[in-house]
Amino acid sequence: MPEKKYDSGKVQIMNIEINEIKDKLHEINWDFTSSSATKGIHSIHPYPAKFIPEIPRTLLDTLPLPKGTAVLDPFCGSGTTLVEAQSKGYPTVGVDLNPIACLISTVKTNTLPSNFVDLAKECINKAEKNSNEINKEIPNINHWFKEDIQHAISVLVSEIDKVENEITRNGLRLALSSIIVRVSNQESDTRYAAIEKNVTKENVFSYFLVACQKLSQYLGRNLFKDKLSAQIINKSILEVTPSDIKRPIGMVITSPPYPNAYEYWLYHKYRMWWLGYNPNEVKTSEIGARAHYFKKNHQTIDDFILQMDIVMELLTKVVVSSGYICFVVGRSIIHGKHYDNSKIIEELALKHNLSIVAMIDRNIAKHRKSFNLSHAKIKKETLLVLQKI
Ligand SMILES: C[S@@+](CC[C@H](N)C(=O)[O-])C[C@H]1O[C@@H](n2cnc3c(N)ncnc32)[C@H](O)[C@@H]1O
Repeated sequence: MPEKKYDSGKVQIMNIEINEIKDKLHEINWDFTSSSATKGIHSIHPYPAKFIPEIPRTLLDTLPLPKGTAVLDPFCGSGTTLVEAQSKGYPTVGVDLNPIACLISTVKTNTLPSNFVDLAKECINKAEKNSNEINKEIPNINHWFKEDIQHAISVLVSEIDKVENEITRNGLRLALSSIIVRVSNQESDTRYAAIEKNVTKENVFSYFLVACQKLSQYLGRNLFKDKLSAQIINKSILEVTPSDIKRPIGMVITSPPYPNAYEYWLYHKYRMWWLGYNPNEVKTSEIGARAHYFKKNHQTIDDFILQMDIVMELLTKVVVSSGYICFVVGRSIIHGKHYDNSKIIEELALKHNLSIVAMIDRNIAKHRKSFNLSHAKIKKETLLVLQKI
């Protein structure tokens, strides 16, 4: 008897399902004008170009996750996709090059001990009594931090790093990271100029305590009992291999960095220095960083195509058949020329034999800020929903 290659009834049902999904995706207004991107758990630490949580939430509500699989964000940033997937009871995997992104994602997907605020107070007490000169090799430090502020931050870092429990230590490090720009001379998160600010050493401790109270409010042990742990990988996605990802993946929801748009390394530069990371190493491997597009022998859109090709190759290997890959991607302006990055992802999807379920434009909210002014002119981005067949 000839071998039956496919079950035509099953294929028909799958076609009906996918058509229903396409209709649903097109009926949704993806602008989410009254978004809550800076509320609740998503407000615990600033992050540039983060997802409004409604985007991953709505995708997770609309697309079926194949049984026994996890949700992956290969550019997880502040972990919006991971938190939304976790709140639906799905296991998650996140990858990001930036250690601050990984710290935020790790803390957000864990549960802090119920005495977290008391532990923070203990650190403050010890730090206030610590008069040691702490030598921090941070470039240009006196330009960005007053001397007494430098001392307060360094004694806090040194007390926090003595905390044995990793989850608590990460929570304390994140709380400190969240106040670094506020206690520095930097005008604001998106304005990179040194100005005179009325901040004192006492403010460092009081702001830190408030940040810890806020973390405890959203991540305290009393709120969550059975959070599924997330796998967070702090590595360039271009170096991640399928064996690094410990779970079969049924859905990818991501928003990649793209040429000359945001500078994640720059945004977190002094947070990284204070927490013992080297921002220059992050800058070198950061996809899309402006620095790579405005130097001698600069990168071009072809470099970005190559980088996304490597990402797509990895995704097609780790995603199970019938799983979904969702990208939200905007336009780029490089040396005055406009590029629609969604067309690049579309072409790569076809190259890697993915089916294109939907391509939907959405309007970007006006309040999104960036260091790069040319980016402010870009008003639309595209949601691409792809499926591995
Ligand atoms: C658009 S942001 C993602 C924001 C995220 N969706 C959120 O809600 O916070 C893009 C991310 O890509 C990361 N990134 C840049 N180059 C990378 C690389 N080579 N490997 C992994 N991540 C990278 C950046 O650090 C940044 O966090």
